[in-house]
Amino acid sequence: MNVSKAIQEPIFKQISEVIENKRQQAFVIGGFVRDFLLKRPNPEDIDIVTEGSGIELAMAIAERYKPKPKVSVFKRFGTAMIKVQNWELEFVGARKESYSPDSRKPSVENGTLEDDQKRRDFTVNALAISLNKDTYGELIDPFDGLSDLQNKIIRTPLNPDITYSDDPLRMIRAIRFATQLNFTIEPLSFEAIKRNAQRIDILSGERITDEFNKIMMSPQPGIGLKLLYEAKLLERFLPELTSLQGIEEIEGQKHKDNFFHTLEVVDNISRSTTNLWLRWAALLHDIGKARTKRFDKKIGWTFHSHEFVGSKMVLAIFKRLKLPLGEPLKYVQKLVQYSSRPVSLITDEVSDSALRRLLFDMGNELEDLFLLCKADITTKNTKKQILFKQNFDYVEEKIKDVEEKDKIRNFQPPITGHDIMKTFEIEEGKQIGVIKETIKEAILEGIINNDYKNSYNYMLELGKKLNLKRKNETKL
Ligand code: CTP
Repeated sequence: MNVSKAIQEPIFKQISEVIENKRQQAFVIGGFVRDFLLKRPNPEDIDIVTEGSGIELAMAIAERYKPKPKVSVFKRFGTAMIKVQNWELEFVGARKESYSPDSRKPSVENGTLEDDQKRRDFTVNALAISLNKDTYGELIDPFDGLSDLQNKIIRTPLNPDITYSDDPLRMIRAIRFATQLNFTIEPLSFEAIKRNAQRIDILSGERITDEFNKIMMSPQPGIGLKLLYEAKLLERFLPELTSLQGIEEIEGQKHKDNFFHTLEVVDNISRSTTNLWLRWAALLHDIGKARTKRFDKKIGWTFHSHEFVGSKMVLAIFKRLKLPLGEPLKYVQKLVQYSSRPVSLITDEVSDSALRRLLFDMGNELEDLFLLCKADITTKNTKKQILFKQNFDYVEEKIKDVEEKDKIRNFQPPITGHDIMKTFEIEEGKQIGVIKETIKEAILEGIINNDYKNSYNYMLELGKKLNLKRKNETKL
């Protein structure tokens, strides 16, 4: 089969000319070929495999461009990368592995294209297109990856036990591709994953997270999460999540399976956002439930303070998985912590101060919190679904009214510590904090309006109560 359409860009012609001169064979391989055949948008990464030195080939290609692109060489892996126009080209020499009988460690030596294809993760990723003049555009597919693409199957070129032990990350990659592409993992392969699951323990958090986040960014991450669970991989890097699995029954009372509920919530939120961290918040929103689960004879199953406990668990998870500890961590912690607050506001008697407080606490994250709450509705009863959603819309409406009136979102208390020190004979210290906090509380409680004049007068009253001495002729 000829697929020269895939390689019409001038960069491929350049490579073809260079290898012609060098009498060296080279091929496009991997994701670029797969995605072309699947009619997915062209990826920006292009992997080139050559029978010979990938590093030298990269250098020769770089010579052809002005200004000459930088060649990043990764000697340990025998690869080199250059950026040309929008492309990121990675060159690697074809390799084969040979096992010597006296050593358990394979030695890597130069090989042919087919040797290299064998060592790749999946048949659909082992498809190659020739860049050589006499066979330009020919698809080279020794493991029938094309049929697997058509039948939507993830299969390893070799015995899966070998392919997965070469790099255990491939077990997560199998699930990642199955989720992204909506493919099925060949049963033998899936059995091998289950058998070898514990081998992912040798992987770094970064590598796992990289693949896991691709699952999280898929249209329906729940597919991958369920597969990770069934393959016994998830419990190895997110045991907090898998311990939510299960339904207990006491005195005829059951609680829901919080693990499978969570998967639904993640899928729901993924329909309304591509924000990775909001998806993570959905993933972790019930994480505290395993530790807080109690059975109360009068009220049945309870998970008191699970949001607080859960938000405290987020840090350890982020650290273990090498997720970013700055803003994303704070954001996920906050959403987990406040995830049940809107539900508690669904009552006709809800006070403006309760609404104001949520607005103040959430700031810019308010809309995301409501998206999370709505995604959390997983009842199969359509009437209830509609009603619960309307309830949240109602609370959101009310908050919008309060917001317009009071401008409380992200508000900075109008009186600063500096103002307080200019007004009273008072030293820098704790008492200033107390005054500021009391003014803030008064605003949130609706005792005074959120403006400078009211806050200033309130501060003067407080000063009197605290017997603070006014400074002479204070002017603010
Ligand atoms: N590969 C492999 N084993 C791995 C990682 C990668 O065999 N553990 C091979 C596959 O042939 C893969 C290619 O290297 O196609 C490039 O890897 P990568 O860029 O990670 O994946 P892509 O297939 O390009 O897919 P995506 O762009 O979606 O990540």
